[in-house]
Amino acid sequence: MKDKLLRACTLLLVFVLAGCSGPEQTVTPYQSTATIHDFMYWALEPAADVIWDSAGVIVTEEGETDLRPTTQEGWDHVRNSATLVAEAGNLLMMPGYRADELDWIEYSQGLVRTGLQAREAALAKDADALFDAGGAIYNVCRACHNKYAMSGESGESGESGESGEVSSSE
Ligand code: HEC
Repeated sequence: MKDKLLRACTLLLVFVLAGCSGPEQTVTPYQSTATIHDFMYWALEPAADVIWDSAGVIVTEEGETDLRPTTQEGWDHVRNSATLVAEAGNLLMMPGYRADELDWIEYSQGLVRTGLQAREAALAKDADALFDAGGAIYNVCRACHNKYAMSGESGESGESGESGEVSSSE
């Protein structure tokens, strides 16, 4: 009797498992949580700012300020933000954020690539490489905005955004 019950249970389990791995296509329940504008403003730009604010030199009347991190925490902060920039590229390819299958995908992949470049630089504590990566990220932002954002100027608004462009690491 006990044996029969066990067999029945096993059979039931097999059916349940078979049902789970059935041939129906499962849809990943992606859910974008913001408009593109707010995602840019609240997530991507703050992450990119950390990188731009940590690379290059600011020249004022008082002299030069090297922006490179001076502590392990500082480099870790850049590493973390670079990871967010890279993953933002993946998020932008998600249904919900993705605008089309054309250049949008290419620019999003550009964020992944240049974000990883910045992370490598942060892990290596290489200020020159970080400066180059910051410039490469900036070019990706610009390229996508030129094509897809209303005004070609968006994304360069913050004062800090320019540090990657106007100053030199040399
Ligand atoms: C794959 C395309 C794409 C990439 C890459 C991209 N953006 Fe955007 N961004 C957009 C679009 C499209 C808008 C316009 C959204 C809207 O207003 O509806 C926008 C808007 C913005 C805005 C708001 C603009 C404003 O002035 O109101 C900011 C800030 C911004 N982006 C920052 C960035 C930064 C920083 C990067 C690079 C690290 C970046 N974006 C990369 C597509 C992109």
